[in-house]
Amino acid sequence: MSLDHEPAATDRVQVLSRSPAQTRGLGERVGALMQKGDVVALAGPLGAGKTTLVQGMAEGLGFAGRVRSPSFTLVNEYPTPRGKRYHLDLFRLEHSGEAEEAGLGEFLPGDGMAVVEWADRAADLLPSEHLEIALEMGPQEEVRIIVLTARGKRYRLLLAALANGGQGPC
Ligand SMILES: Nc1ncnc2c1ncn2[C@@H]1O[C@H](COP(=O)(O)OP(=O)(O)OP(=O)(O)O)[C@@H](O)[C@H]1O
Ligand SMILES: [Mg+2]
Repeated sequence: MSLDHEPAATDRVQVLSRSPAQTRGLGERVGALMQKGDVVALAGPLGAGKTTLVQGMAEGLGFAGRVRSPSFTLVNEYPTPRGKRYHLDLFRLEHSGEAEEAGLGEFLPGDGMAVVEWADRAADLLPSEHLEIALEMGPQEEVRIIVLTARGKRYRLLLAALANGGQGPC
């Protein structure tokens, strides 16, 4: 048996959400833990709840305004008390080269922090350390399986804080 004296860190957290409000609540808890420099990459099919999660994250970050997915612009910027938050939605990109051509690397995380819907469409541009959140449709209409995976130490600590953070849909 070995004793581990490292601070607790978690690689992966799985959450079952049973409603949009629970997904939003999870986003809020992640947002509350986000810091300048963080990058969050979201994956999941159309209607999985990516934007719903991002709305909760904005709330957790202290941004009270309305959050909508960027469409033609690819990136929206919101001020938060912890720095600028860039919200990218890459659904319309056809290949990752396009993201680079559009200069999106500048926002990952740039001078703030970033959350990216359809992040797999710009996998080459993502920093190797980031928080990955994959949303999947569950067995019933309002159920979603949400898996958060830490890529890098900063995000293992974030997940540990999330897992130890008390009640919620987890
Ligand atoms: N548990 C749930 N979590 C999140 N959304 C849910 C849930 N159950 C049902 N929904 C519904 O699914 C839809 C999710 O929409 P949302 O825009 O967040 O998805 P999205 O992943 O961003 O889609 P897109 O790829 O089109 O941008 C909403 O209509 C929401 O009401
Ligand atoms: Mg969306």
